Amino acid sequence: MLKGIYAGSFDPVTLGHLDIIKRASGIVDQLVVAVLENPNKRPLFTTEERKKHLQLVTKEIENVEIASFQGLLVEFAKEIGATVAIRGLRNSADFASEFQMHLINRKLYGAIETIFLAADEQHLALSSTNVKEVAVFGGNIDFMVPCEIKTFVAEKYKK
Ligand code: PNS
Repeated sequence: MLKGIYAGSFDPVTLGHLDIIKRASGIVDQLVVAVLENPNKRPLFTTEERKKHLQLVTKEIENVEIASFQGLLVEFAKEIGATVAIRGLRNSADFASEFQMHLINRKLYGAIETIFLAADEQHLALSSTNVKEVAVFGGNIDFMVPCEIKTFVAEKYKK
């Protein structure tokens, strides 16, 4: 059984993330979407909230499960038996940093392979950072996040 891991901050999950999740779930037998719990960062949403959001937007995809981890991606991959790391690529800047991460991950854990999925063209400008940048000023984020997530974001910025 081929198990994949798609790790990220997902603060919040975007339509771009969801597209990668759907496509990756068709490549591997089991896909673990793993929220990075980074004690050095102050995310908009707690780890539990981000897991809940991911569960909500992936509930129809049978071979996807949601988890969270601290520390190194490869250590968590080992723990859950994942041998494929999924990453989305939007542009050459993503490629430069993602390629380095792939090399480091392979040094740390030789059994891990990274599969890069090119983002769909309608998601090229999407990022969780851009979602927050627009939402903080009350802008429309309909084209950026799954509809279930819109209200959660709006609630965070309510005065
Ligand atoms: O949502 P992001 O910021 O694109 O996710 C990045 C993530 C979580 C995949 C990456 O930062 C990560 O794997 N962090 C855990 C620490 C680690 O294993 N780093 C890889 C070696 S550079």
